[in-house]
Amino acid sequence: MQNYAELMKDFVERHATGLTVAFVAGASVLALRRWLAGAVCRSKVRLDGKTVLITGANTGIGKETALDMARRGARVILACRDMTRARIAADEIRQKSGNGNVVVKKLDLASLQSVRDLARDVQENEDRLDILINNAGIMMCPKWKTADGFEMQFGVNHLGHFLLTNCLLDLLKKSAPSRVVIVSSLAHEKGRIHFDDINLDKDYQRERSYRQSKLANVLFGRELAKRLEGTGVTVYSLHPGVIRTELGRHLLPTIPLWKKAIAMPFYLLIKTPWEGAQTTIYCAVEESIANVSGLYYRQVHLRDCADKTPAPQALDDAAAKKLWDLSASMVGLA
Ligand SMILES: NC(=O)c1ccc[n+]([C@@H]2O[C@H](COP(=O)([O-])OP(=O)(O)OC[C@H]3O[C@@H](n4cnc5c(N)ncnc54)[C@H](OP(=O)(O)O)[C@@H]3O)[C@@H](O)[C@H]2O)c1
Ligand SMILES: *[C@@H]1O[C@H](CO)[C@@H](O)[C@H](O)[C@H]1NC(C)=O
Repeated sequence: MQNYAELMKDFVERHATGLTVAFVAGASVLALRRWLAGAVCRSKVRLDGKTVLITGANTGIGKETALDMARRGARVILACRDMTRARIAADEIRQKSGNGNVVVKKLDLASLQSVRDLARDVQENEDRLDILINNAGIMMCPKWKTADGFEMQFGVNHLGHFLLTNCLLDLLKKSAPSRVVIVSSLAHEKGRIHFDDINLDKDYQRERSYRQSKLANVLFGRELAKRLEGTGVTVYSLHPGVIRTELGRHLLPTIPLWKKAIAMPFYLLIKTPWEGAQTTIYCAVEESIANVSGLYYRQVHLRDCADKTPAPQALDDAAAKKLWDLSASMVGLA
């Protein structure tokens, strides 16, 4: 014991500078990480008797959102394309929340038929729908097409959700006050809608496609809010932050190892799915924004969510209207 203490003392004295540097560096990283942890939804609102549907809820931000909704007592519908993964997620959510009212339903947003089938199932079998959360997303995949021949990212992130939301509007109106929450991204800021080549057939670039689809999310939110004025259905779009999820699954394999190595320290700064779900949860339940509609939310200041002006091209009401009409004709709603 004596020897050990002596050895320690000796070690500390010899390496005082190094240890101090290591300690300060470690503490700084932790402080920075806490600082970046960011927004939390502080609302304690209960959702007993209410129904929430979340797309892409088997993993990532959607799964954490679903868990939170279940903890608040809601009936939670996980609308997912992979039923095996969805059932595993539902089991975990039921177990962690103690809420048995968590169900899975099949939804592949890359197929209009699948979207219509799910919408019909919900219309026929659910009494109400209080919160619809359009969360599912695919990022920077190769040039893929949906079952209906649409470019994959625009098809899944925007068109599938556009059709789904429209098909569920009657039920949402019947359940008012109700909400539609659209998970967009900061990526919308560099986006534009390529009206002359919406499927990017001429020159497909994965970033361009993702940005277009996320800009479409914000424009859709604004136009939808306008159309729903006076119905008691309010609409919110949001950026969740940069979150450690499976979203990079198509992007990461294309990044060379040396770039990954350089980026390694920054991985520490990426937020957890729980942190990533906070802005979505805020938009879904926060009481103070119950009568606000059509705005875009993200973390502001250190620990708060709030509405934030999106990029100028996301405020273009003529483009929002044009995108609505184009989308309606693409999915066969016009
Ligand atoms: N992570 C971030 O840093 C970040 C930043 C900004 C915005 N966002 C947005 O946050 C949302 C959630 O993403 P995440 O980060 O949680 O990613 P994730 O872990 O990859 O989860 C995406 C979810 O979407 C589902 N999905 C993908 N294609 C689908 C389809 N065709 N039909 C039905 N579901 C489909 C996935 O299902 P499978 O598991 O079956 O593939 C999965 O459940 C996305 O809209 C994304 O754009 C994320
Ligand atoms: C929202 O509007 C309803 C109906 O007008 C009102 O009862 C409620 O207090 C309002 N809520 C907020 C947070 O402003």
